[in-house]
Amino acid sequence: MAKIGVFYGSTTGNTVKAAELIQKAFGSNVADLCDVGAASPRDLEKYDILILGTSTWHWGGLQDEWALFEDSLTSEMLGGKTVALFGLGDQKRYADHFADGMGLLYEKIKPLGVKVVGLWPRQGYDFEGSAAELGDHLVGLALDEDNEPEKTNDRVDKWVQQIKKELGVK
Ligand SMILES: Cc1cc2nc3c(=O)[nH]c(=O)nc-3n(C[C@H](O)[C@H](O)[C@H](O)COP(=O)(O)O)c2cc1C
Repeated sequence: MAKIGVFYGSTTGNTVKAAELIQKAFGSNVADLCDVGAASPRDLEKYDILILGTSTWHWGGLQDEWALFEDSLTSEMLGGKTVALFGLGDQKRYADHFADGMGLLYEKIKPLGVKVVGLWPRQGYDFEGSAAELGDHLVGLALDEDNEPEKTNDRVDKWVQQIKKELGVK
């Protein structure tokens, strides 16, 4: 299958950990990991399929390195690509802003001519509101290492299987 670039921004390590699980589920020969804190916009060009992962900070804001890198997400860089999103958050403490960062990334990439895959059911979480909500779905995979770390492996595995199906690969 085509090479996948997993681009992540992480402050305390939770999003890195999730990115590594996602890489492992696709296979390290298929998916490369890229820290947006060290990435250049040109790195995005190497991949037809991108997986973008951010945590949420500052009550509804993007993770800090993503806030610096998000301007690199342009139609020149992303147009025609397939993109999936994942987001880390804390649904108890930030119940009105759960994984908002993922929603902010979605709003950013939506007008850029990308195909978004990996929408994920909202059901199964316990929060009040999120910028990542899209009807009865979330714009990507939400993970909560603060309250439900035991669900992360299973969620990642199911999500990666779903994306493979959407991409038509085994
Ligand atoms: C000051 C602060 C603000 C936060 N704001 C939010 C928030 O608005 N929404 C949310 O879902 N999680 C929020 N979180 C939780 C983090 O997103 C969560 O712990 C995440 O797993 C951190 O991932 P990282 O270590 O990869 O950055 C916040 C955490 C802190 C300490």
